[in-house]
Amino acid sequence: MDTRTKKLNFTVPPTAILELTYKCNHFCKFCSCPWEMEVEGYPKYAKGDEMDFTQWKDALGVLHSLGVKNISISGGEALLSPFLLDLLDYVRKENLFNQDSDIVLISNGLAMNEDFLKAFKCYDVHLSMSLPGIDTFAQHTGVDNAAGVLHWFEIAKKMGVHTTVNVTVTKQNYHELFKTLAMGLIAGADTILLNRFLPGGRGLSYFNDLMLNKEQLNGMLNIAEEVLEHSNRIGSVGTEFPRCIVDDIDKYERLRIGTICAAAKDFFVVDPSGYIRTCNHSPRKVGHIFDSDIVSDVEYWNSFSTRAYIPKQCISCNEVSFCDCGCREVAAIVKGRINEMDPCFDN
Ligand SMILES: C[S@@+](CC[C@H](N)C(=O)[O-])C[C@H]1O[C@@H](n2cnc3c(N)ncnc32)[C@H](O)[C@@H]1O
Ligand code: SF4
Ligand code: SF4
Ligand code: SF4
Repeated sequence: MDTRTKKLNFTVPPTAILELTYKCNHFCKFCSCPWEMEVEGYPKYAKGDEMDFTQWKDALGVLHSLGVKNISISGGEALLSPFLLDLLDYVRKENLFNQDSDIVLISNGLAMNEDFLKAFKCYDVHLSMSLPGIDTFAQHTGVDNAAGVLHWFEIAKKMGVHTTVNVTVTKQNYHELFKTLAMGLIAGADTILLNRFLPGGRGLSYFNDLMLNKEQLNGMLNIAEEVLEHSNRIGSVGTEFPRCIVDDIDKYERLRIGTICAAAKDFFVVDPSGYIRTCNHSPRKVGHIFDSDIVSDVEYWNSFSTRAYIPKQCISCNEVSFCDCGCREVAAIVKGRINEMDPCFDN
């Protein structure tokens, strides 16, 4: 199907995140994957049959014809996909998407090996590896592998693969954030990505154990800035902040803090069965990559693409052109509507 010949009823973001598999070899308490949510009263996210490589090639064709420029790869755990390397080879050999951009791949690192790293070097893959703590790694993930992740940062550096140490910050690993980031960088990571814990997926069951308060949200930014200063690096925060929860947002020189939701604007998600979502944190399917209209829940999509989700408490704020009041999907998950305040204000 060549979707360029058809008038689309939605705006297409430049980046698609491909969730290659639902499977995972970790059991993270914080995991936001919607199919891991098991909270009474919430609808279950129905997993479909995972697409095989042939179907993914068709899906890539649709994305390419839509004008998508970049892809990122995630999951579940993408290293468990039997065709991960075939897919990377296909994207590069067929000249799909922007060949000058790295493909970002997010992984927990447990199934990493040198063959993967060789391929990542060859296909210009930027590897973002999760390190949710050092002493608390096993407590968060159910697997004792902080040393393994650090080892693969070291090997990746030797092999010339660019990497990010990516930390989901929770109430339980906050106390060791400096050490976690520093050890990731010392092992060889090029940069850092912080995610404040967002309740959703399995993480919703651990809301009280993991949710950061205002002091910790500011503390995590300060700690990251300090580590970046010591290491002369730059980094970013991947889960948007409400501007007014940050004490002095303009003081950060090395840490880029997003305050506008990027879902359905900068990126969108294709799940392992081909369902489309606005964001990886979103439990709501808005269409399917092989449907003729691709996005069928256009109203929901457009509330993200046009920012028609601002809480009423924010409408008269001077900052509202630069601030979406934190995470809109989390507002919907925790409070039932996308235009409620981010739950971080209640904690
Ligand atoms: C869902 S994971 C999938 C990729 C891979 N399995 C991993 O964990 O790195 C994608 C990213 O989301 C982050 N993440 C997972 N749950 C989160 C949560 N509740 N809040 C913020 N970030 C979260 C992970 O740390 C990871 O960086
Ligand atoms: S956060 Fe990633 S590694 Fe952890 S359970 Fe979820 S998908 Fe697996
Ligand atoms: S828009 Fe809302 S969340 Fe953002 S700074 Fe203003 S009041 Fe705070
Ligand atoms: S819904 Fe928007 S604010 Fe929330 S994590 Fe996704 S991109 Fe960020």
